[in-house]
Parts: sequence; structure tokens; C-alpha cells
Amino acid sequence: MQDENVDRTISYDFKPRLESFLAEVLIGLRKPQKELPSKYFYDERGSQLFERICELKEYYIPSIEASIMRAHIKEMVELIGPHVLVIEHGCGNCEKVHFLMDRLHDPVAFIPIDISKEQLLQVAKELDSIYPQLQVLPVCADYTSSFELPIAKQESKRTVVYFPGSTISNFDPIPAKHFLEHVANLCGSDGALLIGVDLKKDPAVLHNAYNDSEGVTAAFNLNLLERINRELDCDFQLDAFEHYAFYNPRESRVEMHLISQRRQVVHIDGETISFIKGESIWTESSYKYNLDEFEQMAAVAGFRVERVWVDERQWFSVQYLITR
Ligand code: AVI
Repeated sequence: MQDENVDRTISYDFKPRLESFLAEVLIGLRKPQKELPSKYFYDERGSQLFERICELKEYYIPSIEASIMRAHIKEMVELIGPHVLVIEHGCGNCEKVHFLMDRLHDPVAFIPIDISKEQLLQVAKELDSIYPQLQVLPVCADYTSSFELPIAKQESKRTVVYFPGSTISNFDPIPAKHFLEHVANLCGSDGALLIGVDLKKDPAVLHNAYNDSEGVTAAFNLNLLERINRELDCDFQLDAFEHYAFYNPRESRVEMHLISQRRQVVHIDGETISFIKGESIWTESSYKYNLDEFEQMAAVAGFRVERVWVDERQWFSVQYLITR
């Protein structure tokens, strides 16, 4: 779809509308255990806060993943092979994909998919200038919904989906399986998925990672309410909610909540939502896997785990899966 004000266009625009944001917020807040979808964390400020989280010492994921990538990139590139089409769901600022793209042999096209149109356009322009030979086909979409993908000019030998950062952790088990199934279909036969998967570890490490000492994760969590206030004309009192994150060992997940500090009401779209003191809004789950669990889920979704790389402490894995 052509955007006349910019000299770079995105290939497909499926940006979710405000009505679906409102509908999802209302559905979540009407539940007995109130909840909000974590995908809405990433407005401009939320994306900036997430970038700051990624620089925190306590938040171990980016540094370990990067070290695994550095140590094993040669082998990854060999496994992937030449002339591939690369797709990245939720690419954000596309920072991580450069490391891979720079080393792949003659990739034919890249489809970055993200919900933020502005960032996507910016990223597409940068990619165009860095990789003039590569066809960049940006798609603005909520990648958890279904949408069509553009077709690359040049035929590729294989479709490879790159899904770093353990974003798969933020899906509940059934949606995670569905997402992997969707990716397997997208890749077709002989397709591949290069994915970062966070592993189970000492709950104290997890506690610190999601309760950082600078309060950046708390600000990231609270920003969701600020976004709802701004975009959906709502009246959450930000100082009346507090960030709360803990590891739930039975479910193998870190849960993030916002806890109401007092009895209060919030108005949204003509509806009044009541909170008692101590009541929570569940804003995110971050599932931690062991290698067998992930392999089983991937198998049900149509993938075979071809290769797994982990760090010394086995805190994180990068996995190369192929369609079966
Ligand atoms: C994006 N995702 C993998 C992060 C995670 O660790 O679940 C989001 C996050 N939430 C709090 N800190 C980081």
C-alpha cells in the first residue's frame, strides 16, 4: 500500500485498528483475573523502555543470545545455506538480524514484520541502503493474526524464519504451538526456523531479571496503562498501580502483574471497571522451557530440532529447526 509522504513504502499494511485494541482491553479487564495483552507494551515509549531493559545487566537474554550467535554463526550459516528468503516476526528495530544477514550467502529477500509502521519504514530505508542487492519487503501487521505475505521477485532456495530474543516465551503453550505451526506452514517443505528459547534456571536469577534495580521493567509494565489512557481515553491512575513480577514454578513462567494499591474505579469506553485493594492485572507471561519440552512442542507443530546451541550455564538456547 503506497504511503505518499515517504519515499519508502511498506509492502503490506495490516496495522491493527484502535477498535481491536479497545476490544481486547475490554475483554481482558472484564475477566475475573483481569489481564491485558502483552503485545500492547510496544508503543514508542514501550519499545524504548524495552531497549533499555535489553541493556540491563540483570536481563541476561540479549547478551547470552548474542554470545551464542557470535560463537556459532558459521555453523548456522552453513546449515541455512545460500539464496534464502528470511522472515522476521516482530522485528522491532531489526538490530539483531544484521548479524545474520551480514554473514548469509546471497540472501534473496527479507520480510520484516512489525506492528509499528513508523519504525518499520525507518528500518526498511536503512536495510535498503545497507543491502542494495537484497529485496526488502516490510509488512506492518500484528504477527499473531493471519495476513498474507508479499512474494519476492527472485526465487529462493529456502524460507528461513528468524525469531530471536525468546519472544516465543510470551505465548501461552497453546498459542505458542499454533504460532510454530503457522511458521512451519509459512516455511513450507525444507524450511527452517532459527529461534532463541529461554531456559529454566534458578528462580532468583529470573526474579532479578524481571525486577531490575533501576525500575526499568516496572516503568515498562506501567507504560501499558499510560498507553491505554492516551489511546483509549481511559483514566488509570498510574501511581495507584505497582509492578509485581514473580516466577511461577508450577507453570514454568515469570508472571508480570500490575497491583492496584487501593480500592478504585477506572472508566473506559463508558464502562466502569472496579478494583479492590491488592487486585492484579496480569500483563505478561514469560515461559521458560527445558530442551525436551521445547522439542516436543516443536515436533507437534511440524518441526524437527536439527541443532541446539546453549551457553555454558545453559541459561539460554538458540535452536535451528527444520520442517518435517
Ligand atoms: C520480549 N520478551 C521475550 C521479554 C521477556 O523476557 O519475556 C519481554 C520482557 N518483559 C519484561 N522484561 C522483558
